[in-house]
Amino acid sequence: MSGGNAATTENTATTENTVTTENTATGTRHVDGFDRFRVAPGPALQAALFGPEPDAATAAVAGAELGRFVRSHLDDGAGVLILTGMPVDEETAAGAIARISALLGEATPQNREGELVRRVRDRHTAVGQGQRSRYSDSRFGGNLHTDGAEAALPAPDVFTLYCLRQSSHGGELITVHLGEILRRITDPALLRTLRTPFHVDRRGDEVGDESPTVLKPVLFEQNGHESISYLRSYIEIGHRRDDRPDLTAEQTAALDALDAAVADPAAQTVGKLAEGELAVFDNLRLVHGRREFVDVPGHSRLLLRSWIRRGRTPA
Ligand SMILES: [Fe+2]
Repeated sequence: MSGGNAATTENTATTENTVTTENTATGTRHVDGFDRFRVAPGPALQAALFGPEPDAATAAVAGAELGRFVRSHLDDGAGVLILTGMPVDEETAAGAIARISALLGEATPQNREGELVRRVRDRHTAVGQGQRSRYSDSRFGGNLHTDGAEAALPAPDVFTLYCLRQSSHGGELITVHLGEILRRITDPALLRTLRTPFHVDRRGDEVGDESPTVLKPVLFEQNGHESISYLRSYIEIGHRRDDRPDLTAEQTAALDALDAAVADPAAQTVGKLAEGELAVFDNLRLVHGRREFVDVPGHSRLLLRSWIRRGRTPA
């Protein structure tokens, strides 16, 4: 880690993993690893997210602006785009999430109940606990992953997080780009194993007599480029089921190599969403996690999330 010494008002976050430094006593917020991802949306994009239902012309201008941001920050960048200066009213935020999802493509259900906008908050569970609990239901850190790891491919191309209430203690996000992972796993045998299917637990999303696991690789091709879908605990739970094979030594070695790559601080970017920020993440080329947070009474951490299959990015 480069340490919490990036106390400056200029954007000098030149390392991948600059950590958050906040001075709550003075109210100043210093550079963190996400500062280079932050942009202020222009009037057309703001209007398309928060105004009356946009007409075709407004939607086209807003879509083009968002498309430019997505190309520079996700497709050609580090995989994260953060729109700043958003309202923190939940109903308004839910509407904006639906609008941005439609501008980017189509929102996809996040569970068998068909939720398109999920409230991400501490539901007092731990990852993998019980039949249905998920990473996003807990307050704990670790387990860097992609969203939708429990579901069959295709994976959500991107996901959004709209920060309504942030924790003052913890809650930083950690991201690692697939490019950094592939630079660290050079053994072709390990990569071959990651490209062959694992039995991944579906976390109770199966309906009727559907299988409780889905067979899918960690590394695969989607939208014409190498992609990743991963949450280790879901793989281990899937392979522990009675009628599923144990993980082989080769599979365990490949997952260990992947975990070692994402745990390398030099590969990680660490930042903390502020209240009123709407972030868009490349879910095919980025694994992410968070640091453990602690809620305080009356101000529990709350993010709204959508999963999106992308449409054609406007020119
Ligand atoms: Fe997640």
